[in-house]
Amino acid sequence: MERVIGIDLGTTNSCVSILEGDVPIVITNRGGYKTTPSVVAVTEAGKRLVGHIAKRQAITNAENTVYAAKRLIGRKWNSPQVKNSIMTSSYTIVEGPHNDVRIRLRDKTYSVPEVSSMVLQEMKVIAEDYLGEPVKKAVVTVPAYFNDNQRQATKDAGAIAGLDVIRIINEPTAAALAYGFGKDLDRTVAVYDLGGGTFDISILEIGAHGVFKVISTTGDTFLGGEDFDARIIDWLVSGFQQEHGIDLRQDRMALQRLRDAAEKAKCELSATRDTEINLPFIISTGRNEALHLQRALDRATLEQLTADLVERTVEICRQALADARLGVTEIEDVILVGGMTRMPAVQHTVATFFKREPNKSVHPDEVVAIGAGIQGAALVREKQEMILLDVTPHALGIMTFGSHFEELIPQNTTVPTARTKTFTTSRDDQTAVKILVLQGESTRADENELLGEFILTGLRRAAKGQVEIEVTFEINSDGIVSVQAKDLETGQAQSIQVTATSGLTQDEIKNMMSSAQDYMVERRTDERFEASKQEAETLIAEIERLFPEIERAVGSADFGRDALAKARSAVERTRKAIGNKTTDEVVQQVEQLGRTLRMFKGVVTRG
Ligand SMILES: Nc1ncnc2c1ncn2[C@@H]1O[C@H](COP(=O)(O)OP(=O)(O)OP(=O)(O)O)[C@@H](O)[C@H]1O
Ligand SMILES: [Mg+2]
Repeated sequence: MERVIGIDLGTTNSCVSILEGDVPIVITNRGGYKTTPSVVAVTEAGKRLVGHIAKRQAITNAENTVYAAKRLIGRKWNSPQVKNSIMTSSYTIVEGPHNDVRIRLRDKTYSVPEVSSMVLQEMKVIAEDYLGEPVKKAVVTVPAYFNDNQRQATKDAGAIAGLDVIRIINEPTAAALAYGFGKDLDRTVAVYDLGGGTFDISILEIGAHGVFKVISTTGDTFLGGEDFDARIIDWLVSGFQQEHGIDLRQDRMALQRLRDAAEKAKCELSATRDTEINLPFIISTGRNEALHLQRALDRATLEQLTADLVERTVEICRQALADARLGVTEIEDVILVGGMTRMPAVQHTVATFFKREPNKSVHPDEVVAIGAGIQGAALVREKQEMILLDVTPHALGIMTFGSHFEELIPQNTTVPTARTKTFTTSRDDQTAVKILVLQGESTRADENELLGEFILTGLRRAAKGQVEIEVTFEINSDGIVSVQAKDLETGQAQSIQVTATSGLTQDEIKNMMSSAQDYMVERRTDERFEASKQEAETLIAEIERLFPEIERAVGSADFGRDALAKARSAVERTRKAIGNKTTDEVVQQVEQLGRTLRMFKGVVTRG
């Protein structure tokens, strides 16, 4: 049976899991960690770095290190969130050709899905190293509150990474799956997921026989740990400004150091009540004097600085309950997901709001990936042991007269789903109708997210109102939207393409896929070279260690001298091959050296 991996592509950390038999396994990366930072960098030499290694060099290479790319995925250039990221990021964000966002690293510009694909590719490699075989299929998670553009862009990232993303699932739903998997529960639960970049809350009914039904979901895709860090950074920056009259934000390296220190202090304050932020030589004055930053921060101050952020999550929880038409007392368990739920103020606030202690049985960093792995296995298994019914987080509709938003599929409708709407011509001999597809909760079209537009063309010429076109709007299990149209009189299907207003073209994706493949070939070649080089060097050391003994043993026999000369030249050839980086040659030489060493050992033991 084909293996499907589950990937939690997080704003700060990513995690990969697979179901082995009936046991979910979280796969450890080479460094021994179960999560990998979603950080991508390009070094001065043009080398790509992903994960811990990229995070570790972020301070010295701030301009070419991307973190939190997920905050930008599927967003439009002119959106407020992008403006915010431009202000606070130490890397350069530029406008793309489709009103989209691009990131400049060294001399190249990358689309956001491309950057995310590098993280996905890394997760794929981690899984392949563990399984010892190539992986093709994956289930990837997204915040429940992601709109269609963000989902599409995430799918594109998967495709670029060479993954067939067989399903996109919502992060809180994945967490609930992992929580209820194999337990035959029957209860109503809330999943509160506060991660690095996003906040989601979902209310689910977990029924007997493995039915997981989402009743409502809502959230904020721009509310997470990054915003908590930003509050600490603001506090530090304005304190420094007051004291020294210098704006630390102007210095990218200083900003990156502040970012690290802020996050560290925040995490420490989950365990202790006081901490100190200490950044020597943070910047130098115009007179070349080095300035230091040193400030004490206690838990109470942190809580004050971030109280409104925590309060915002409570408002959203209230909304989720209202949408589900449930009271707090009807929630039988609250599951905490995401690293930010380690903050005591968050735990306390959640407990107060739901009037119960949250469940601590799931691992906040791993549970989403585990759920994705479980869903991945379920999708390829014949026996259906589990049914997942999710909902669409946003209403889907079209723009009508007066820039009004006409809702076709309401928020929290179970997906997959479809609605049809009949359009009629409004003028005589009208041959085309333009339709704008939007997603969102506002009654005003321009306040909602534009997913795309299409034009019904080639309509029959007739008096106004005589031509009726039936348009079907569909949301699939990934939460992704598609549209079809049919002329009701002729029954002729109109094929229409919703042109994404942001996002990548098929050609762009193909190009990015092939460069991702090239990268992989290069990387695997490098790894093969490094491995054979190491093996060769070990063999050479052992052989050279035996030379004196062999010389003694074979004495002046022609045969022995011949063997020694051959061994010396093999060592020579190997060194040359290593120097020239010719991998195949090194691999060949390893075999030769192995034979030589066995022969030497034979001589030594006999002698
Ligand atoms: N002990 C802790 N106390 C407070 N915050 C913490 C702690 N440990 C981790 N965090 C924060 O949790 C966040 C990361 O959480 P997580 O790994 O769940 O996010 P993510 O999955 O990458 O993001 P998202 O789900 O929003 O895309 C970071 O902001 C990190 O600083
Ligand atoms: Mg997460």
